[in-house]
Amino acid sequence: MPKKIKIISVVGARPNFVKIAPFCKSLMRLNETASHILVHTGQHYDHKMSQEFFDALDIPKPDINLDVGSGSHAVQTADTMKAFENVCLEEQPDWVVVVGDVNSTIAATLVAKKLGIKVAHIEAGLRSFDMTMPEEINRRLTDSISDLLFTHCSDASQNLLNEGVDKEKIKMVGNIMIDTVVANLEKIEKANPCEKLGLKNSEYCFVTMHRPSNVDAKDKLESLVSTLSILSKKLPVVFPAHPRTLGRLKEFNLLEQLKSEPALKLLEPVSYHTTLSFIKNSMLVITDSGGIQEETTFLGVPCVTVRPNTERPVTITDGTNRLASVDDLLESVKSVMNESNNHEKKALPPLWDGGTADRIVQVLIEYHE
Ligand code: UD1
Repeated sequence: MPKKIKIISVVGARPNFVKIAPFCKSLMRLNETASHILVHTGQHYDHKMSQEFFDALDIPKPDINLDVGSGSHAVQTADTMKAFENVCLEEQPDWVVVVGDVNSTIAATLVAKKLGIKVAHIEAGLRSFDMTMPEEINRRLTDSISDLLFTHCSDASQNLLNEGVDKEKIKMVGNIMIDTVVANLEKIEKANPCEKLGLKNSEYCFVTMHRPSNVDAKDKLESLVSTLSILSKKLPVVFPAHPRTLGRLKEFNLLEQLKSEPALKLLEPVSYHTTLSFIKNSMLVITDSGGIQEETTFLGVPCVTVRPNTERPVTITDGTNRLASVDDLLESVKSVMNESNNHEKKALPPLWDGGTADRIVQVLIEYHE
């Protein structure tokens, strides 16, 4: 019998947890063939940003927590590297599997590659072509040194080919985030957070906003807050605030303005099932998140992404997404509201079907044999 494949997978931030859940499940089914060590870097540590996701998505307790916490990019990345190097030296895995584009992703990749350990990147090939985004830097660096690049659509594979990546390394396996939506549809249906807030299905807008480019500059955040205040007079708004955003709202004295709007529900970060239920039942979503652009496309909910670009153009060409600036956000929302009765249901991108994690595990095992 061939030696078991030993895999370390690394997660750090909220969107990573959503992507690793199906991967852990697929590996568990193969425990004769594969052994798995789950490492949490501790980039996100608040109960609502981390543990709640592990509980809700049945992710096994991490075998190792590096407890790196918050810090500047350099500090967070360096602390992760220092701590993760010891794990790799101790465990000597065959593969390190990283997901997404957060600081934990690039930190783990650099450590593994310098120790001669193979790296597989899930959600490779995304490009916003905007090097002011920390995530774009993380993605490009991670992809450029990884051994296997799992992409979620053909655009992403093409980006890698355009950069000269050997096509043998690129595996188009579909969207792992959609595996999680598919596996949780029943729980999402049951969550029903609208009732508690007195909201009717399709009669509110769901908002998330956390990118430094939107929330760290006072004038930008002021304008967002005033746009959301205006919007809430026409359509109730549900806005769970990321800790970064909440911090900035307090720092710029904008919190009271938001709280004073009767139809604007400012919430703490909400759980996975609550978030997806809010999204599924909303008239539209306003966001700057990456994953939510995909989840809205999958669920057929209109999405306005408040960014000048997206690394997920397939959600515009084949989905329900559009881009807007803070200045034209109200206009964009108005046109979505006008169109909301005549959505044509588009076909989903190929392999956004719930089977991505199994396909990834299959490839890893084939490479090992
Ligand atoms: C990170 C990712 C971003 C991802 C986002 C999802 C990077 C470069 N960015 O951004 O791509 O979209 O996660 O949420 O990796 N904080 C808490 N509690 C926590 C975590 C963070 O209070 O559990 C606060 C801290 O003040 C921290 C700030 O949020 O400094 C930012 O956290 P950080 O992990 O550095 O970046 P995010 O903005 O969350």
